[in-house]
Amino acid sequence: MKYAKRWLIGLERPRHGGDVRGCDGVLDFSCSLNPLGPPREVVAAALSGLDKVSCYPDDSCSLLKSELSLFVGVAEDLIAVGCGSTELIKSFADAFVEPGDHILVEHPTYSEYAFYCRLAGGVVEEVPLCEEHGFALDVDCLFERLDSNTRAVFLCNPNNPTSRLESKKRIMEVVEECEAREVLVFVDEAFIDFLRDSRRFSCVPEVEGHENLFVSRSLTKIFSVPGLRVGYGVGGRGLVECLDKVRLSWGVGVLEQLVAVELLRRCAPYLERTVEVVERERDYLYRSISEIAGYTVFKPDANFIFIKVGGLGVGAAAVRSALLGDGVLVRDCSSFGGEFSNFIRVGVKERELNEVLVKALRGLPERLKGSALETGA
Ligand SMILES: Cc1ncc(COP(=O)(O)O)c(C=O)c1O
Repeated sequence: MKYAKRWLIGLERPRHGGDVRGCDGVLDFSCSLNPLGPPREVVAAALSGLDKVSCYPDDSCSLLKSELSLFVGVAEDLIAVGCGSTELIKSFADAFVEPGDHILVEHPTYSEYAFYCRLAGGVVEEVPLCEEHGFALDVDCLFERLDSNTRAVFLCNPNNPTSRLESKKRIMEVVEECEAREVLVFVDEAFIDFLRDSRRFSCVPEVEGHENLFVSRSLTKIFSVPGLRVGYGVGGRGLVECLDKVRLSWGVGVLEQLVAVELLRRCAPYLERTVEVVERERDYLYRSISEIAGYTVFKPDANFIFIKVGGLGVGAAAVRSALLGDGVLVRDCSSFGGEFSNFIRVGVKERELNEVLVKALRGLPERLKGSALETGA
C-alpha cells in the first residue's frame, strides 16, 4: 500500500485470548477474568443508563475520576481514563514515542506495548525473561540495553503471560535509573488487584515523586467486564496532561462511565471475595497440574497460570485443539514468540470448572495418542 506510513508495512495486529467465536459452549480458560463473573450491580447500572444514551458522554469523565481518586488514593488530576487500558497504551505511544525512538519491552509480555510503539514509528527491543530464572526481570540486562535514544521502558506487573510479580523495589530500581537518564517507564498493573494487599506491590503511590512513571490499571479483568471498555492510569501531572491531548474524544461511553462509578463505589466485599477465591483456586490448579506428567507449571502470582507442555511431545497449537474436544479452550502462547510455541496459559476459575480443566489436561496424553492413530501420524 503506497499511501501507508513506511513502518505500517509488515506490522501485524496483536493476537489475544478470549476469542470464543466458533467455540460455542466451551469453557474459556484462554482469558484471565475474575472467576466470580461481573458483580450484580453491572446490569442494574447499565439499565439505568439506557435513557442517557441520547446524550454524549462526559468527555472529561469527571465523576469517574473522582471515584477512581478515592479507589487508588491519588488526586484526580493525576488520573487518565481510557476505553480500556489499551487506549492508554496507545495514547502513551502517540504522546511520547517519535519515529526512530528506542523502546524496551520484556519478552514475553503483553503484545500491545510493542505494537502501538511500532505504530508510532518506535524501534522496539526485547529484554528476554529467562525460563531458568522463572521469567524474572533481569534488571542488569535491561540497563545494558538502555541507550541515549531510549524513550520508554514497558513493564507488566504481574506479567502476562508468565503470571510473575516483581517486587516493587525491583520495579522502582528501573524507574529511578530511567529517571536519571530521562527515560519514561510505563508499568501495566492490569492484574494487580487480584493480589492480597495489592497496595503493597503497586507503584501508584510513587508517581508523585517520579515524573517519568506512568502506571496503568484496568477494570476489565478484576470486574470481569471485557465488553465494557474502561481503563485508567496514574502519572505525574505533566504526563497526564499530554495523554489527555491525544486521547479519543468521548472514548468512554455513557454506560461505561455509569457502571464503572457504581462498581467502584460498591466493590470492597466483591474484591475481598475475589482475592480469596483466586488464592484458593490458583493453588489448587498449580498443585493439581504440577502433579501431571508432561507439564511444567511456573509458580503463578496472578489469576492465571503459565504452563510448558513440551513434555507431551506436541506444541501448544495441538494441545489447544485437542482440549477443545473436551470443551475446554486454553491460550496457545505461540503468538508471544516462537520459543513459546509449547506454552499455554490458563485463567483461574471456580472449583467445579477448574476440575474440568484438570481432568482434560490429565486425559490429554491419551487423547493425543488417539488423534495420532486417527491421522496415522
Ligand atoms: C497485561 C494487560 N494489560 C492490558 C490489557 C488490556 O485490557 P483492557 O484494554 O481491557 O483494559 C490486557 C488484556 O488482555 C492485558 O493482558
